[in-house]
Amino acid sequence: MSILPRHIAIVMDGNGRWAEKHGKRRLQGHDAGMKAMKEIVKRSSALGVGYLTVYAFSTENWKRSAIEVSGIFKLLVRYVDQELQELNDNNVVVNILGSYRSLPADAVAALERALATTARNTGLHFNIALNYGSRPEICEAVRSVAVAVKDGRLSPEEITEEIFSGFLDTGGMPDPDLVIRTSGEKRLSNFLLWQSAYSEFVFTDVLWPDFSPEELERCIEEFRQRNRRFGGR
Ligand code: FPP
Repeated sequence: MSILPRHIAIVMDGNGRWAEKHGKRRLQGHDAGMKAMKEIVKRSSALGVGYLTVYAFSTENWKRSAIEVSGIFKLLVRYVDQELQELNDNNVVVNILGSYRSLPADAVAALERALATTARNTGLHFNIALNYGSRPEICEAVRSVAVAVKDGRLSPEEITEEIFSGFLDTGGMPDPDLVIRTSGEKRLSNFLLWQSAYSEFVFTDVLWPDFSPEELERCIEEFRQRNRRFGGR
């Protein structure tokens, strides 16, 4: 077993409850969540983690109030404005999972700037899942496979798990070794369903804005105690 998980995926949950607990507005909770995310990216990069995937906005999150939704995207633009230089200096590669092109125009522009600026870096792969849902991702991949078969670029016999994985938003990346969910909820909520088939899960009661780099290291320690057999003996 490797010492460090190669790919860590996190459901950043509990911003709203953190805000409520501190008598603040929900958007202040997301603001605190963004600050926590910044620190987790830095620590992951410093530790030498290969891939970090965070669930920032799900396809279901559109059901929230318009103010909250637009506030989250404003935060995203601010995050890119404030952090892109440092991410790039630290050799981080930014990647987006999900249909980000249907987000507000300024968010799309900020994301494309982040993608273009960091594309040639070779350090931590930082995947931000935005307007992401695992089932829509799998459906889209099936559609692409169907088109490839129809066009004669792929035969049905050639469709293996490995080939199919390449059609997902995470194509070419290793599956997450460790999936963390904060705030005491014990669900996957349509996050990396295919990719987490053999992941270890760590659930913590800590609300996302309180999730510190030390807490990340504690989760990694818990991962290290697990005995991963991948279905074998
Ligand atoms: C879950 O908490 C969090 C979200 C839906 C948004 C996550 C956003 C950030 C961490 C900051 C923004 C960063 C980017 C890159 C967009 P919740 O609101 O579901 O909390 P609750 O369950 O306590 O209400």
